[in-house]
Amino acid sequence: METEIINISKSESKEEIYSKLTEYYKRGKLVAIPTETVYGLSANAMDDEAVSKIYEAKGRPSDNPLIVHFYEMSQLDEIVDYSDENVKKLIDKFWPGPMTLILNVKENNGISKKVTAGLNTLAVRMPSNVTARGILKETEILLAAPSANTSGKPSPTKFEHVYHDLNGKIDVIIEDEQSDIGLESTVIDCTRYPLVIARPGDITKEDIESVLGEGSVKYNEEVLTQNVAPISPGMKYRHYSPEAELVLFNDSFENLINILKDKNQKTGFITYKEMESRVDDLNVSIKYLAENEKSVEQSNKNLYNILREFDEEKVEEIFILPIEETKENKALLNRLNKAISKK
Ligand code: TXA
Ligand code: MG
Repeated sequence: METEIINISKSESKEEIYSKLTEYYKRGKLVAIPTETVYGLSANAMDDEAVSKIYEAKGRPSDNPLIVHFYEMSQLDEIVDYSDENVKKLIDKFWPGPMTLILNVKENNGISKKVTAGLNTLAVRMPSNVTARGILKETEILLAAPSANTSGKPSPTKFEHVYHDLNGKIDVIIEDEQSDIGLESTVIDCTRYPLVIARPGDITKEDIESVLGEGSVKYNEEVLTQNVAPISPGMKYRHYSPEAELVLFNDSFENLINILKDKNQKTGFITYKEMESRVDDLNVSIKYLAENEKSVEQSNKNLYNILREFDEEKVEEIFILPIEETKENKALLNRLNKAISKK
């Protein structure tokens, strides 16, 4: 299949592109789109066949449900129940933005059963990225979209990542800027109380509590210890892994430097820019996550890109030192832990 590359932001005839995309979605085509978190692989959420093609193109297990993306609240009226007061407060505060809500579905809502993988809940998100909003508004179609990567690879935060994984397998890639946030959205299960963070993201537990009050939300792990079934089917898969073996070095910086002295470009090292003068002499491939451990936003934005760059360089092992957990870096550590080799 020939994949068409379209750059809406740079185009002078946006209207034409929007009508073309509307036509494509109606014909069941797959279109990779930018969002503020990561690029998504979108199709008409009402079209069984189109949704099946998403799973196929990604090589994604069919029991892992998808998020439906939309432009304005009225589009959800017949789809899910968002009448709960807490839910309304979250919507007011965080949409459009990097938040996905799991809500109870309304009957016969037209959404393909393949989207929900048989669950009676649906994950929905109103993205804030300008290009994504343009497409959702002008096509007026509800878009089912997982991250636009091959299943198991780090999510794509740049057009090039999508091209690398999916060129030749999908109909269109919308070319755009690097994703602002760089990690997938915070997924919140709103079908129980306290609410549950099924996947940490840019919007933190504290952000949610600042709107709904302390104790209003728990992490998935806290609930798991209470013998409740895991919420987010996707969380059980090992994710976000580079080809290379990512090794968490549970020792001092000095000891790691000593080991790296004998290594070459087949070894990678993820560290912070403030360490630059101390790693000058090393022969390994060094990449900086951010200025320092406190620069969480920068780290989030860079992580997947760095893992993919190492793969391009055919690096075989990547070392990283432990990062101290804070309120802000939960999402970063969650993705890193999933990428770290458990050998
Ligand atoms: O930022 C994001 O959320 C990106 C962009 C493209 O919007 N999308 C994304 O989609 O990360 P995906 O498919 O890679 O991850 C969706 C996660 C999975 O862990 C899935 O299991 C969970 O959401 N999920 C989807 N529907 C669910 C449901 N009804 N109940 C529980 N978990 C659900
Ligand atoms: Mg994904």
